[in-house]
Amino acid sequence: KKVVLAYSGGLDTSIIIPWLKENFDGCEVIAVAADVGQGAELSGLEEKAKKTGASKLYIADLKKQLVEDYIWPTLKADAEYEEKYLLGTSFARPLIAKRLVEIARAEGADAIAHGCTGKGNDQVRFELAIKAFAPEMKIIAPWRIWDIKSRDEEIDYAEAHDIPLNITRETNYSKDKNLWHLSHEGLDLEDPANEPQYDKILELGVSPEKAPDKPAYVTVAFEKGVPVKVDGEKLCGVDLIAKLNKVGGENGIGIIDLLENRLVGMKSRGVYETPGGTILYHAHRKLEELCLDKDTFHFKQIVGQKFSELVYDGKWFTPLREALSAFVDSTQETVTGDVKLKLYKGNIIDAGAVSPYSLYNEEIATFSEDHVYNQADAEGFINLFGLPIAVQAMKKQKDQK
Ligand code: ARG
Ligand code: SIN
Repeated sequence: KKVVLAYSGGLDTSIIIPWLKENFDGCEVIAVAADVGQGAELSGLEEKAKKTGASKLYIADLKKQLVEDYIWPTLKADAEYEEKYLLGTSFARPLIAKRLVEIARAEGADAIAHGCTGKGNDQVRFELAIKAFAPEMKIIAPWRIWDIKSRDEEIDYAEAHDIPLNITRETNYSKDKNLWHLSHEGLDLEDPANEPQYDKILELGVSPEKAPDKPAYVTVAFEKGVPVKVDGEKLCGVDLIAKLNKVGGENGIGIIDLLENRLVGMKSRGVYETPGGTILYHAHRKLEELCLDKDTFHFKQIVGQKFSELVYDGKWFTPLREALSAFVDSTQETVTGDVKLKLYKGNIIDAGAVSPYSLYNEEIATFSEDHVYNQADAEGFINLFGLPIAVQAMKKQKDQK
């Protein structure tokens, strides 16, 4: 018997290893750590996984794929869950799950296990993606079956099973980090009446009041909706996001506090840090203001909202998500150009945008004299455009007599 486990080296997934062996008659546990740009957390992981009882550890480098196949399509769609959340955890789950299936197949494993709780979104995202590639695969979600109810009980279990812990009994926020974002949930955040203690929480940057008094300028260049340069320097997606995370974080950009509607029915409160992502969303939308015609722009807003729900709900590998991506890609043909932004104490201020595909025509829009727009045309247009209003008013007048 072989089980492939989505492993992070944290407390939850560490105790799952001995728990699986105890409860699934000494099964072999193959740990898989996904490198999605969470940084330091990966060092020393192999030793730790083996000490805890895993037979081997895979480290799957998913950074490039995360950016190109998941983040860019979501950015191009301008998808924000509940108009705020930039989906940093949501789109990483299907990618990780897909790799878990590949490794499970290569290893001839009987099951895939994960450390998500039975109360969250992540369990759904992992499992929908596993089903999309391996509908027959057995899934083990220990949090939904074991007797452990709290972090303290987890630590007791770990100590009883000689699991090396570098955490103390003092608890921490529930966090999820990757190259796009860092999320924080739990503890004092569970009461929406509490103001988040940003000085303690923030890791990717500073709060607006701690940001410099001088603004920072940044210029992002896009090609067909995909960011390709920062300040004239061509960068791969992973480096580009890292660069914007730095300047955004320093200037207090991209900190949000959201009371969101989880897929499993409850409301839950989270603080998210997405400095680079927030800059990219702003810049991308700015370019669309310039390059998309009105009908496409307005329809795309509806698509973006639906797209955000699909991603949040773990429906990445579905015909609708793919069809919406095809629509979005078609709109991005002309979303090419440069957007300059001023970052100042948590604010993003537009500082000019240019595109070879700009639909803005100064000659038409100008308040000065022009030779292309005939103001006399407006009278007939308004007469027809306003006809239903006039007809209704005439009827009302007649009825009143
Ligand atoms: N609430 C966010 C979401 O549903 C973040 C979840 C963070 N996950 C975690 N395992 N800490 O996407
Ligand atoms: C979890 O419950 O495992 C994390 C939070 C979530 O999935 O929404």
